[in-house]
Order: sequence, then structure tokens, then C-alpha cells
Amino acid sequence: MHSPEYKELRELVAKFSDAEVAPLAAEIDEKGKIPESLVQKVAENGFMGSYIPEEFGGAGMDYTSYAIIVEELSRGCASTGVLVSAHTSLATWPIIQYGSQETKAKYLPKMATGEWVGCFCLSEPDAGSDAASLTTYAEDKGDHYLLNGTKNWITNGKEADVAVVFAKTEKTDDHKGMSALVVETAWEGFSIQKAEDKLGIKGSSTTQIVFENVKVPKENLLGKEKKGFSIGLATLDGGRIGIAAQALGIAEAAFRYAKKYSMERIQFGKPIGDLQAIQFILADMSTKIAASRLLIAEASRLKDLGEPYSKEAAQAKVFASESAMWITTKAIQVLGGNGYVKEYPVERHFRDAKITEIYEGTSEIQRLVIAANELKEYR
Ligand code: CAA
Repeated sequence: MHSPEYKELRELVAKFSDAEVAPLAAEIDEKGKIPESLVQKVAENGFMGSYIPEEFGGAGMDYTSYAIIVEELSRGCASTGVLVSAHTSLATWPIIQYGSQETKAKYLPKMATGEWVGCFCLSEPDAGSDAASLTTYAEDKGDHYLLNGTKNWITNGKEADVAVVFAKTEKTDDHKGMSALVVETAWEGFSIQKAEDKLGIKGSSTTQIVFENVKVPKENLLGKEKKGFSIGLATLDGGRIGIAAQALGIAEAAFRYAKKYSMERIQFGKPIGDLQAIQFILADMSTKIAASRLLIAEASRLKDLGEPYSKEAAQAKVFASESAMWITTKAIQVLGGNGYVKEYPVERHFRDAKITEIYEGTSEIQRLVIAANELKEYR
């Protein structure tokens, strides 16, 4: 994380985020859409393909670099950060990891340039934390599957050209019949049922998607049949690092604003930043940010080394997201009434932070993952 290469990358992305992303964040929040021109700039800078191997047109960076990119983009705009995060860790990663050579060659080059955006379809109206209970069914029809079902809370649903979809290829009550498929959203039978109107990350599309008799060629299976649940959870392990990085970016933006404000706002004849009541808040913000960054770096480092990292990814996510919620809440407190109105950005940071405690596994699920890893030596 402290090597010259990572520092250089951070500076580069920070410059882009400050110049191109942050100035649009309030408008993105208000209009509920990331302008196409910004998505294009993000793609042109290589941020959609950072983790994709060079042989498939990506930049071939490691996960540590990818997390830095998501953090710095999210500091500018949380919606833009999650567009990149869901595309990279939830859609390109399982294709890189489990796709056949043909599948990789077909999808990754377009996903690397951002020409095609990806999404991840696991959750359903009745299957959230209990992902194993999903009922979307992919019926074996010889050379293809016939896919039917409804998916909820799909980040990038509106923009996506490619979806990594989890479906039962055998109707079981548990996870054992689940498989993972790559589905093109242009295929007949794919439709967006509704777009959610959310509290925060308003520029990021969150949709309900329906698959109605979608024909999915057999070669679009990821990994082996009935191994989909493990593929989904392994993908989420990496995704959780991305969301931790998003949370950190949001927290950093709120912290920087509160810090600057505290030295400009005069009360009782001096800047409020000279009051211990405010200094203690700023000190705790700073410490939580530093700790979040270290947890993210450690989870990323283990992933880059090919070592187990489920526990560390869950720790990074639960800590960074809960810190982001605390920091953005306190940032509003530092600004007082000004923190509560849209003229200042911290109310947006507060609204954007909340989702990081929910998606890609709630804080409660992260704690289950951490505890399961800690206790497994006794089982
Ligand atoms: N990586 C790979 N495989 C794993 C794994 C991991 N991290 N953790 C468990 N597995 C495997 C196990 O080895 C086991 O496989 P076998 O049956 O082959 O032995 C299987 O998964 C079941 O394991 P467990 O019994 O340990 O799992 P569980 O049923 O107790 O539940 C859970 C695990 C933690 C509750 C899990 O269901 C979970 O994480 N739920 C939350 C789901 C989630 O994060 N949803 C977010 C949706 S995505 C999203 O937010 C959308 C978006 O667009 C942003």
C-alpha cells in the first residue's frame, strides 16, 4: 500500500477524481444518473479494466491497486465508485476466475474497455442474506439452459450488457443445486422490471430484473454445474473489499470536508476546530480511516498472494462501512445545521454511506463470516 507504485496510482486516480468526478457528484445525486460522458472518461482511463489481465485487454493490475481506484473514485462520487466496483469485482472477477478460455476471450476485452458493463444477479425478492434459498431456475435443455426467475437489488442493472447470474440447475432447498451463468442482457427474455428510488448512491442504478425463458448456451456456465454457491461466495469475498474501499472513500470525503470546515467556522471567537469537543471527533475520524485503510490493504494483500482472505475481507467491510456511517454522522454534527442541508455535501455522504452496511452482505453477515472463520479450528 505504501510502495511508490501504489502512491503514484493513488495520486493519479485522486487527480482524476478531484477534477472529473467530485464536481459532478451533487448533480449525479440530484438527477439520479451518472452522465454517459463521465462513464466514458472512467473507462478511457482504464478504471473498468484495471484488474482484467493484459492478455484480455485489461491493465493487469492487482487487487490492492483496484481497491485504491475504488476508494479514490468513491471519494469523488460514491455512485461512480460502485459502478466500477460491481463491474469489476462482481462481474469480471468470476469470469476471469471460472470462465472458459472462450468465455474470457468473448467477454473480458469488451468489459476491459468499458464498452460492456457487468452486473451480478444473486439476490431475489425472497432470497437476500439467505442466498442459498433462491429459486431462479435454469432448466437443462441439452445445448442450452432455459432461465426463469426474478432478481432484486441489481447494481448496474440499467447499464449492464453482461450479467453473472445464479440459478438452480437442480431444484434443491439448499445451495447444492446452484450454478453460475454468464447472460447477455440483450438476449430475448431479459427485462428490467423496476428501478429502485433509494436513500443514497442515487446515481447508481439498482434494479429488479426478470428472466423469462432466456436461452443461455451451455458454454456460458462458469466453473462446474452445481458449484454456483461457492462461486458466488468467493466472488463476494472480493466484492466486499471493493465495498470497504467505497465506504472508505465516502468517509474520507466527509472527514476532509468536516476538517476544513472546522477551521473556517468561527464560534465563541475562534475556529470550532480549536475546541476539544470537535478535535476529539476529528481524531476519531482520522483513526477509523487509518484503520479501515489498513484492513483493506491486508485483505487485498492476502488476495493478491492467493492466500485465504474471507475473514479479512469481512473484517475490512464491516469496519470500513460502520466507520463510514459513524464518520458521516459526525461530519453532519461538526457542520451543525449546515450539515443537514443539501447546500453542503456531508448529508449526501451520510446517505451514501448507509448502503455499505447492507449490500454484498450486511454487517451481521460479515460478523457471521468472521466468527465462523475464528471458530473453525474447534469444529
Ligand atoms: N468462498 C467459497 N465457497 C464458500 C465460501 C467462500 N467464502 N464460504 C462458504 N463456501 C462454500 C462452502 O465450502 C460450502 O460448500 P460445499 O457445500 O461444497 O461444501 C458452501 O459454500 C456452504 O457453506 P456454508 O454452509 O458455510 O454457508 P452458509 O449456508 O452457512 O452461509 C452465508 C453462508 C455467510 C450466510 C452466506 O449465505 C452469505 O454470505 N450470505 C450473504 C449473501 C450476500 O452477501 N448477498 C449480497 C448480494 S450481492 C449484492 O449485494 C448485489 C449487488 O449488486 C451489490
